[in-house]
Amino acid sequence: MYDLIIIGGGPAGYLAGERARASGLKTAVIEKRALGGVCLNEGCIPSKALLHCAKIYEYAKSGDSYGVSVAGASISHAAVVERKDRIVKRLVAGVGMKLKSKNVDVITSAAKVLPKTPEGFAVEAGGEILMAKRLLLAAGSQPVIPPIPGVHEAIENGFVLTNREILSLKEKPERLTVIGGGVVGLEMASYFNSVGSHVTVVEMLDHIGGYIDAEISALLLKIYMKKGIEFKLSAGVKNIRDIHADKVLLCVGRRASTDGLGLENIGVLCERGAVVTDGFMRTNAANVYAAGDINGRSMLAHTAYREAEVAVSHMLGRNKRSDMMRYDAIPSVIYTNPEAAGVGETEASAAVKGYSFTAARLPMAYSGRFLAENPDGEGFCKLIIDNKYNRLIGAHIIGSYASEMIYGAAMMIETEMKIDDIKEIVFPHPTVSEILRETLFER
Ligand code: NAI
Repeated sequence: MYDLIIIGGGPAGYLAGERARASGLKTAVIEKRALGGVCLNEGCIPSKALLHCAKIYEYAKSGDSYGVSVAGASISHAAVVERKDRIVKRLVAGVGMKLKSKNVDVITSAAKVLPKTPEGFAVEAGGEILMAKRLLLAAGSQPVIPPIPGVHEAIENGFVLTNREILSLKEKPERLTVIGGGVVGLEMASYFNSVGSHVTVVEMLDHIGGYIDAEISALLLKIYMKKGIEFKLSAGVKNIRDIHADKVLLCVGRRASTDGLGLENIGVLCERGAVVTDGFMRTNAANVYAAGDINGRSMLAHTAYREAEVAVSHMLGRNKRSDMMRYDAIPSVIYTNPEAAGVGETEASAAVKGYSFTAARLPMAYSGRFLAENPDGEGFCKLIIDNKYNRLIGAHIIGSYASEMIYGAAMMIETEMKIDDIKEIVFPHPTVSEILRETLFER
């Protein structure tokens, strides 16, 4: 009898496994594919490996402007993918070793929840029935396949790819059409543009990047277009056959993976395909929790980590209001060159919520280090300040290191720091992060 069975070995599942075992719960993680989930195998990490290579190549090509001459710079997509595969393999093995060293049982199999027995939950995996006192559902998500005529056949014959296949494409397509100008679409469009594909992004909305800051969205669009990516905004695809390309990447969002888990056997409530959870990541079924993409709340690996911790803490009796999951300060990043990162409210969302707020904005060029490294670089930092309580409620940065700086802003929002207190923090000089402090003095 396990104290906890976790279904899914992605960020939510493996972290919950580690945390639960460390707290003394006898725990099993059941994963049908590879440990690490989408994040490690076909998402966050592999895409960052690709984008880093593209960045090095771009630097090499523009070396002259830095007084560095790199003759005949070239990039081999095949070598980039090979390197990515080595990194993924190492990290996946690392997760496995860590779970093993902590005595978490890992079972490689699809899991199905059976009707509850008087002894506890029964889960079928690998031809066996495992029993547990509690369940954590962490089966993740999968790409949405929209009802475009011809899409299923095209996926089968390899013309249409999802995030999974595109990251392992051995040859770069000459012409790549990307359906969906969200985070996956923009990161992959950027990479393939850098390695020389002709990339067209088809986006249904009149802007890219979904809910990101509108000005950042517009600047990203301008920069990507300058690099040669073509955009068709406010556009849809009527039929896959009409697309003139060598490959198509389909990335129009993700949906929770609940099919085949047997959730109906224990009466777990789902809405629009995702498992419904409360602030402690509890489902409607007693002792059944859900963390990560499967609950459809934020679909980011870092959200999944925290949700997993909140779920395990609750299992261990931490049930105060302050132990609940908070979603107000979850950063999001687009890892293209330039990077864009945001956390908290945008001007648009703050207005909808009725805040009295001030938006302070400063070009990145105010940072000496930014200018030293990016003499022609564009970018800015925008901070959203709640006038009533004089505190930060949003931060949006486009430019180098945005991904590494944003946590600082997240911390200020999460801890509800007053602007006057933030102004007293000493930032190292010269760093691009100083822009956060400087922007506050600009309002
Ligand atoms: P997304 O929701 O970010 O973007 C999908 C885009 O497709 C939207 O802009 C939407 O308007 C558009 N769209 C929908 N239907 C369409 C159609 N029929 N034709 C044209 N456009 C259409 O979803 P995406 O990019 O697939 O990413 C999935 C999830 O993975 C997201 O939750 C995202 O946040 C996460 N992710 C996060 C990353 C990061 O943090 N750096 C990287 C990649 C993904």
